[in-house]
Amino acid sequence: MSSDVNKNEWWRSAVIYQIYPRSFADGNGDGMGDLQGVEANLESLKELGVDAVWFSPFMTSPQKDAGYDVSNYKDIDPLFGTLADFDSVLSKAHSLGIRVIVDLVPNHCSEEHPLFQAAVAAGPGSPEREMFHFRDGKGENGELPPNNWQSVFGGPTWTQVPDGQWYLHIFDSSQPDWNWENPLVKEFFDGVFRFWLDRGVDGFRVDVAHALIKEPGLPDVAETSSSMTGSDEEPNDDQAHPHWGQEGVHDIIRGWRRIIEEYDDRAMAAEAWILPLSKMAKWVRPGEYHQAFNFAYLEGKWDASALHKVVDESLEEFGKVEAPSTWVLSNHDVIRHTTRLSYDQVPKQGDGIGPDYPQPDEALGLRRGRAATAFMLGLPGSSYIYQGEELGLPEHTTLEAKFRQDPTFFRTKGERVGRDGCRVPLPWDADAPAFGFNSTGKAWLPQPENFRSYARNQQRGIPGSTLELYKRLLAVRKDFNLGNGELKWHEDLCDDSTLGYENNGVLVVANFAGQVALPSGELLVTTQHDLSVEGVLEADQVAWIKL
Ligand code: GLC
Repeated sequence: MSSDVNKNEWWRSAVIYQIYPRSFADGNGDGMGDLQGVEANLESLKELGVDAVWFSPFMTSPQKDAGYDVSNYKDIDPLFGTLADFDSVLSKAHSLGIRVIVDLVPNHCSEEHPLFQAAVAAGPGSPEREMFHFRDGKGENGELPPNNWQSVFGGPTWTQVPDGQWYLHIFDSSQPDWNWENPLVKEFFDGVFRFWLDRGVDGFRVDVAHALIKEPGLPDVAETSSSMTGSDEEPNDDQAHPHWGQEGVHDIIRGWRRIIEEYDDRAMAAEAWILPLSKMAKWVRPGEYHQAFNFAYLEGKWDASALHKVVDESLEEFGKVEAPSTWVLSNHDVIRHTTRLSYDQVPKQGDGIGPDYPQPDEALGLRRGRAATAFMLGLPGSSYIYQGEELGLPEHTTLEAKFRQDPTFFRTKGERVGRDGCRVPLPWDADAPAFGFNSTGKAWLPQPENFRSYARNQQRGIPGSTLELYKRLLAVRKDFNLGNGELKWHEDLCDDSTLGYENNGVLVVANFAGQVALPSGELLVTTQHDLSVEGVLEADQVAWIKL
């Protein structure tokens, strides 16, 4: 990294906590999390030690895709509260020293967005339709979709309107894609950006940032895949895809960056499933995004050589463009890592685990999950934490079909159960209704019985609990300024079953199998037992030692 990189830029080293508003905490007792619930519990995040929170969408939405189908980008859905509630959360967060990032969904809106409704009403050839991708169908009477693209949630990406034209939706049919070749769309979103920046947010997480531009003519894809990388195979560096990662997105990004630069200290992060990392790094070149989610890291296994490799590659590729690497293990679209890491192989991203799938080894998953986090939080760069992982919360893997809400489940007739299992309301209090998610016991997705033992009140102040482990990791990370440090591998501690790296005077040792003798030094934090260790690190454990 060159010396003119400003390490004081908060987003270079921040630990960012993802709040999934539907499931964090429910203030009004209707079974759906809300802003009131968030505000009442912000102190717990201060206590945890995070630098920022990222809110999954709370804008007005018919909730066909849990809020990622927005019908008004400048208001709060009544399910979650009002703009005044948001202002109140924002100011409280700021008073606690926590920054706030909001989710922006520019690839598509909801079928209930007034501009889409106007487009449907206006008919073929109208300027209103130019805001979206409307096309005539193929076949003698236009009865076939215009091309062979596959929706991420299953089935074709095209739905027909009554006059016979089809509209494009990379996700659910309730989520029409905007036409970003139309300057009016750009102008519309510039306004949305400024609306939230003027309100005082610290930045944005930009949803499916790699889908905005489509190849002219919308040609067929070579491989029909519902994956967000465009392929079910290892991503290939030099294959262009007609709707993922088109070059034109970079102009859009630069435009947003210019807007953000008019304000102090704000940042934006891309959700772009662009792999390999050498390609993803182009998204965070100077003048583009500040950060991109490191999905190569998220998709890695709990395996010494694989981790070594992905860390090297991340630091190298992001370093080349003077961007920090990000690190992430869980979010609202993937199987929680405490469950995922107990398997050798899991269903592909977005498909989820249901009762018919071999059930996880919960204890093994928790052990590896904690270790994976302790390994991650020692790395230089910015880290993301998904709500509930600080409790060691597992995936809900036995959710019955009748409760499922993910559009993937419906579009594939239950073949892919989808992402509900990682979105279940959080347990706060083992003995309260809905484990303290609210006071009425209602919950939009039922919580499994095993959530009881993970409740926050069962862990707070208990040495060795996952919650205390996260707090300690974050506190030490801050004390030693690890987010801004530099990684150096300790080669003598790196082999098939161990890894050791140094960062700002802290040695992080991870053990993947058997036992390993720890180098001497003050033990700062460990995943092992009750945060103490007698010189020997067991399998699936991590220790941080002061050098
Ligand atoms: C992103 C979101 C996901 C959503 C999809 C469509 O991948 O993270 O939850 O379903 O975009 O907006």
